[in-house]
Amino acid sequence: MNVVVRGRRRHYRTVAFDAARRAVLLIDQRRLPHQFQILATRTFRETATAIREMVVRGAGAIGATAAYGLAQGALAFRGRQADRFAAHLAAVYETLKAARPTAVDPVNAMNQVRAALDPRASIAEQQAQALAAAQRFADEDVAHCEAIGRHGLALIRPGMRLLTHCNAGWLAFVDVGSATAPLYAAHAEGRPFQVYCDETRPRCQGATLTAWELAQQGIAHHVIADNAAGHLMQRGAIDLVIVGSDRVLGRTGEVANKIGTYTKAVLARRHGIPFYVAIPLSTLDWHLRAGSAIPIEERAEEEVLGAWGLTRGGRRAWVRVANPTSPARNPSFDVTPPELITGIITPLGIVRPADLWAQRARLGGPAGSRHHYPGFTRRPASANLPT
Ligand code: MRU
Repeated sequence: MNVVVRGRRRHYRTVAFDAARRAVLLIDQRRLPHQFQILATRTFRETATAIREMVVRGAGAIGATAAYGLAQGALAFRGRQADRFAAHLAAVYETLKAARPTAVDPVNAMNQVRAALDPRASIAEQQAQALAAAQRFADEDVAHCEAIGRHGLALIRPGMRLLTHCNAGWLAFVDVGSATAPLYAAHAEGRPFQVYCDETRPRCQGATLTAWELAQQGIAHHVIADNAAGHLMQRGAIDLVIVGSDRVLGRTGEVANKIGTYTKAVLARRHGIPFYVAIPLSTLDWHLRAGSAIPIEERAEEEVLGAWGLTRGGRRAWVRVANPTSPARNPSFDVTPPELITGIITPLGIVRPADLWAQRARLGGPAGSRHHYPGFTRRPASANLPT
């Protein structure tokens, strides 16, 4: 997206690769909205750490980061033996996969990279194939989000008041975002609308990241406390909910997303408000058979017991909020059942969650092409981040 940084407006991708330095370039999301910094990870281990520590976060963004990390690991291999190269790649894959467990995009992205490697090719050729495939995943992520915008645009009527949860914006992807794509498309057409951003405790991705994104694009919005949505719905102040997802089960239509999404879906149903989930195809999991089998990440209790922010002196600091002797639980995601979801906005159109499995061939599921999603223009990765 185009953003103003230190007085200059320019285009950035959330994730990019600097081939000369073999570095993954990441907008450091821990520092937004207060500071805009780009962090370069030079090894696949540093890349995995950046995912775990949420320098980069959001399903599509960590998918692209893992794909680049796998390529980075492949490029770092020194040796001639094919079996050692394969073992090295397997270790890199597992390290990146373990960084964050709930989103399926990193696994799908890395599988796409692995599938692009020709085992009969030389190691040098496979290293080049890995990087090209990672680049392709990143470009497809952008194309998918743009297509989500085109399909979701019809949902946004002038004057609407929308609710979104967490950040499924361009910072959660390589560019454009999933839940935000219809908003950016409607804004580009000059349709007026207003967005409520759930603050999204404990890490406040709504208050920090979504609000920053929308402000950068000049879209009218308010940050609301997570507990305010029910009241606003009851007063008729919310017309539509659009959220993202970290994993959608193709077999059941269940949706894993940031903790609190399920609550909002229940409230939306109670008040007859349409509830949509926007995803690229890399967020579809065609294997798991039940939402209860989705690994739900439990993060550090400090996230719940306190909060990060800026001090009056401009220093980034964590402050304790909760009672000093109390422990906390911090499940980071929840699972929303399909009956609470009006539709899934995909790059190929809006699908009812219960129809995903029937449409699996078209959506890149088991009966279709598992690793590539044909029909999208591949844009060159020329919009890389500055170094
Ligand atoms: O913990 P995060 O910030 O990586 O969580 C992921 C999310 O941002 C949300 O769950 C989002 O709505 C889906 S990711 C596109």
